[in-house]
Amino acid sequence: MPPGHHRSSWISSFPMKFSFQNVRKSFGDLHVIEDFTRHVDDGELVALVGPSGCGKSTLLHMAAGLERASGGKVLADGKAIKGPHPERTLMFQENALYPWLTLEQNVALALEFQRTDKRKARELAREWLAKVQLAGFEDYFPQQVSGGMRQRTALARAFISQPKALLLDEPFGALDALTRMTLQDALRDLIREAAPTVLLVTHDVDEALFLADRILVFSSRPATVLKEFNLAHHEKTHDLSEFAPMRREILGLLGIQARAEESDLASAHHTTQSTEEVVA
Ligand SMILES: Nc1ncnc2c1ncn2[C@@H]1O[C@H](COP(=O)(O)OP(=O)(O)O)[C@@H](O)[C@H]1O
Ligand SMILES: [Mg+2]
Repeated sequence: MPPGHHRSSWISSFPMKFSFQNVRKSFGDLHVIEDFTRHVDDGELVALVGPSGCGKSTLLHMAAGLERASGGKVLADGKAIKGPHPERTLMFQENALYPWLTLEQNVALALEFQRTDKRKARELAREWLAKVQLAGFEDYFPQQVSGGMRQRTALARAFISQPKALLLDEPFGALDALTRMTLQDALRDLIREAAPTVLLVTHDVDEALFLADRILVFSSRPATVLKEFNLAHHEKTHDLSEFAPMRREILGLLGIQARAEESDLASAHHTTQSTEEVVA
């Protein structure tokens, strides 16, 4: 667990280690992942960045147990991943809230699957909604709130079952830049409290810089790691100016020419927008 992360005492379990050993993946003739070997430590947040279609979601799906590797091993706490498990929770961009359930019911549902008492589940759902600043919105339906609020709800639902690992696939990709930053703050607060291991796929380099302990930059398909960046032990804010050289290097690896004058925040923001168009 990185220093500065403190697990709350109410968490009985510990986060999860992942180990990818010489992992290959093909879909028929399509060779997607080429010999991927990496360890992910407990409580670590590793961001996966790379061109669209390079195999990032496929890697997450293997960690989730939704896809099998074509070669090599994918281990969770030293054991082969055989299928999905609530200890490893996947969350993706299109919010998968049920439109006919209220926000509270959507969040509580995660616990009802685990046979938690219904009243207790409701009570916990209200607590987790409050943690993502949605107190007062418990009885709203998803279509009555903003996209940002729906993703806050999805975060509450992902965290309520206190998974050891969170697998986030472009969780804020559909949100505007400002809303996305507030959601990144919310996610960081939740991570500080619950300290799960996180694999985060994102096309937003600033999001990776802000949230990650480590960033893996992938090549286009078949995906290999072009370079790894270590950001552990940094107190980070959205002013990422201290990471400007790293940011420029990552964009360069992704084939995007970062402009020389980008270090002030306004133009950095502008560059983020154009990054998405090229990378997404
Ligand atoms: N179940 C599948 N069957 C066939 N091809 C797939 C399947 N899942 C993904 N692919 C293909 O594998 C490649 C990598 O996909 P994906 O992991 O979703 O990329 P990324 O998330 O990096 O954009 C893409 O070309 C995609 O079309
Ligand atoms: Mg993807």
